[in-house]
Amino acid sequence: MSKTIFVSNRLPVTVSKHESGLEYKESIGGLATGLKNYHEQGSTVWAGWPGVAQDDLSEEESSSVADTLRNDYKCLSVPLTSDDIEQYYHGFCNETIWPLFHYFTSAVEYKKETWEAYQRVNRKFFDSVDPLIEEGDTIWIHDYQLMLLPQMIREKHPDVKIGFFLHIPFPSYEIYRQMIWRDEILQGLMGANLIGFHTYDYVRHFLSSVRRLLGHEHSLYKMQLESHVVQVDAFPMGIDYDYFAKTPTKENASQETMDFVKSTQNVRNIISVDRLDYTKGIPDRIKAFKQFLSNYPEYREKVRLNLIIAPSRVGIEKYDNLKREIEELVSEVNGEYGTFNWMPVWFFFRTVSQDDLIAFYRHSDVLLVTPLRDGMNLVAKEYVASRTDYKGMLVMSETAGAASELGEAIIVNTNDHEAIAAGIKMALEMPEDDKMDRNKNMHRRISRYNVKFWAEEFLNTLQGSPEEKIHTEPL
Ligand code: ADP
Ligand code: F6P
Repeated sequence: MSKTIFVSNRLPVTVSKHESGLEYKESIGGLATGLKNYHEQGSTVWAGWPGVAQDDLSEEESSSVADTLRNDYKCLSVPLTSDDIEQYYHGFCNETIWPLFHYFTSAVEYKKETWEAYQRVNRKFFDSVDPLIEEGDTIWIHDYQLMLLPQMIREKHPDVKIGFFLHIPFPSYEIYRQMIWRDEILQGLMGANLIGFHTYDYVRHFLSSVRRLLGHEHSLYKMQLESHVVQVDAFPMGIDYDYFAKTPTKENASQETMDFVKSTQNVRNIISVDRLDYTKGIPDRIKAFKQFLSNYPEYREKVRLNLIIAPSRVGIEKYDNLKREIEELVSEVNGEYGTFNWMPVWFFFRTVSQDDLIAFYRHSDVLLVTPLRDGMNLVAKEYVASRTDYKGMLVMSETAGAASELGEAIIVNTNDHEAIAAGIKMALEMPEDDKMDRNKNMHRRISRYNVKFWAEEFLNTLQGSPEEKIHTEPL
């Protein structure tokens, strides 16, 4: 029977090693959280890196990880060494592609060794997945860590359907052309039958880079190559709407979270939930909140900002520095505006369970989500879905992919602290019926275009992607 194989760097579960033994924890990040429930309910196999270095594990532990992942999570472990992690994951993925694709061009590092590691590790993924592939299978590769893999699979298995989805922005040609290995990466991607992005802007940017760098024209988002047709389209990723809308708070949230909810009833709560990442605009957000307290003194002692920030990519200097910057800004605001009875900003540096997140979302009057650049931002959708009473309001930056779908939110420019401050005030003061109307519209959209719809639409398009020759003329 034919099967669908997901391939991504990060699996839905991350393994870590402690003195007490091996620990298996739910991964965070949009790809893992978004696809997890779909994978659990379906019949997919998911191949990826378990999150721990192979050389940190004994042989016995390695095989126990592989067995547990296979038997309990339907996952295939792709083992990586600490050198792979340093050079490929920390290096080329997160110090080259990530900043470039998020328009942080001055942060990009170009190193031949990390590019070589990227090629080598994409090959390792190929070697792990290759024995699984049978005629009639569908392979769905995810994200920027594996952009060379589609072509590697195509060369050995020309007849399987290969899909690729990019979970981060694809930048404009003027940015993308700065990449030293720009042609090789595009050629890697073009091994796919279908390439998906979150928004039409990213589709446009990609097609423009392919035309200018590889010379392929498209007709109605399809490109004819010698071996196959490549189709490109936008598939805005959704969330597991029912899970966020229907999970009962009291039964599922932890006692600690319920105590928090109880103890913060007397103030208006603004919440922010992110991975610790410089693309998320967290320092600007804190500065904007400070501006809010300065501009609207009537809100002092009546509001608090709760930052729930998950550790991410620990060991990369830019990420470690960001944590210190946030800590300094938080204490600056608290020092300046705090009173003996009130602290304006609360910073929690931890990952909380999805059930606790739902409780936080439901308890918060405002979600403040202001990335400088974000492929989609699922947090925004999770918040809207969780507030089934339609009483919350979303303040979101226009540079989040989700902004193009959630136009009823208060949309701001993340560099404009005054505008964010005014946005917070507007959200706190919005009349109930206005909030209700805006939220109902957003609910309708995200309940329909949920993660199941997204995955099925992508996979159905991939199944139906053209195999015959198409005619492409320059437009
Ligand atoms: P990204 O993929 O860049 O991390 P998204 O907003 O698309 O951004 O997805 C982040 C996912 O990780 C969401 O599902 C969110 O609930 C989860 N997440 C983010 N921060 C935390 C946290 N502190 N604790 C638990 N889950 C988190
Ligand atoms: O959604 C974008 C993304 O980069 C995913 O590819 C990734 O899994 C997630 O964010 C979290 O990052 P990481 O896998 O590096 O922890």
